[in-house]
Amino acid sequence: MKKTILVTGGTGFIGSHTTVELQTAGYDVVIVDNLSNSKADVIDGIAKITGVRPAFEQVDCCDYAALEGVFQKYPGIEGIIHFAASKAVGESVEKPLMYYRNNLTSLINILELMPKYNVKGIIFSSSCTVYGQPDPEWLPVSEAAPIKKAESPYGNTKQVNEEIIQDFVKSGANISAIILRYFNPIGAHPTALIGEVPNGAPANLIPYLTQTAIGIREQLAVFGDDYNTPDGSCIRDFIYVVDLAKAHVAAMARIVEGKNAEPVEVFNVGTGNGVSVFELINTFEKCTGVKLNYKVAPRRAGDIEKVWGNVDKANQVLGWKAVHTLEDSLTTAWKWQQKLREDGIM
Ligand code: WQD
Repeated sequence: MKKTILVTGGTGFIGSHTTVELQTAGYDVVIVDNLSNSKADVIDGIAKITGVRPAFEQVDCCDYAALEGVFQKYPGIEGIIHFAASKAVGESVEKPLMYYRNNLTSLINILELMPKYNVKGIIFSSSCTVYGQPDPEWLPVSEAAPIKKAESPYGNTKQVNEEIIQDFVKSGANISAIILRYFNPIGAHPTALIGEVPNGAPANLIPYLTQTAIGIREQLAVFGDDYNTPDGSCIRDFIYVVDLAKAHVAAMARIVEGKNAEPVEVFNVGTGNGVSVFELINTFEKCTGVKLNYKVAPRRAGDIEKVWGNVDKANQVLGWKAVHTLEDSLTTAWKWQQKLREDGIM
């Protein structure tokens, strides 16, 4: 019998790609999403790729009663992957209470319902943002690195949610949890049937870059060329979203098979390579043949200078590795941007 996984935020960028990989690995998926930052037609894209339409419930995880209704409607959910969250760093500074309410309440509701409905485990989407700017001896940054005070309410919700999970498990709750700390997820499914759909002017590098390349934005601003890095621009660990999605499948297998060594485990999910903003732009131009209009602009407040992951633990323990190149990621991101144009979306 197929095992059923609940994916909150399953119509979002990472959630939709993970749903595809879960279905491909033989799971049934129930998506819960309030569609606050995504559209229901993402389900059509998923169904076209996998040939299977995931179940979908338009529910806000902050609504306890509605969420409980989902557990009642789909008995036997074995695991949860919790993506649903507000995720814009800048917006979180302007609307901190909205961020704390959405991101904390939804996790608390899910955790409360898990033992009641015998759900074995949860995978939580966390972020390398919890490391802040790691000290030089901690680069590449491993899971053992100190957690730094969050720079934004968004980042703080990730830290607090990690602690909520730890505390709940410590209290004796009979569940297990895997916390995945993502680096910078980019790219789109190779079919261009699903991808990232930014809401308004993108804050993140890749959607801004591809929107500039296609002419929606006039020019990409590179935020700072005077950092203490080889070419002066910031360094990140850009991970292909399909690789990231597959890390969730590996983590879910560990949970449903009860193979986890600890009730709460933490894994970095990245490539292990640091790439600068200029290197990324050059790679984009090379692999797409598109000349990008960009200029150097002042530093962006709150940016981390350089961070990339030590991903040995995920490689060894989860048996998972990022296999796609930066070229793969950028080629698919560009293909997706062109598809959005073809479809008249943007
Ligand atoms: C990457 C690099 C920018 C835009 C944030 C969150 C993190 C995570 C992902 C989210 C930086 C530079 C960007 C632009 C630029 N979580 N840049 N021009 O800041 O690493 O991480 O998003 O959901 O928690 O903090 O990602 O894509 O915004 O920036 O030069 O127009 O690109 O300065 O060096 P970041 P990013």
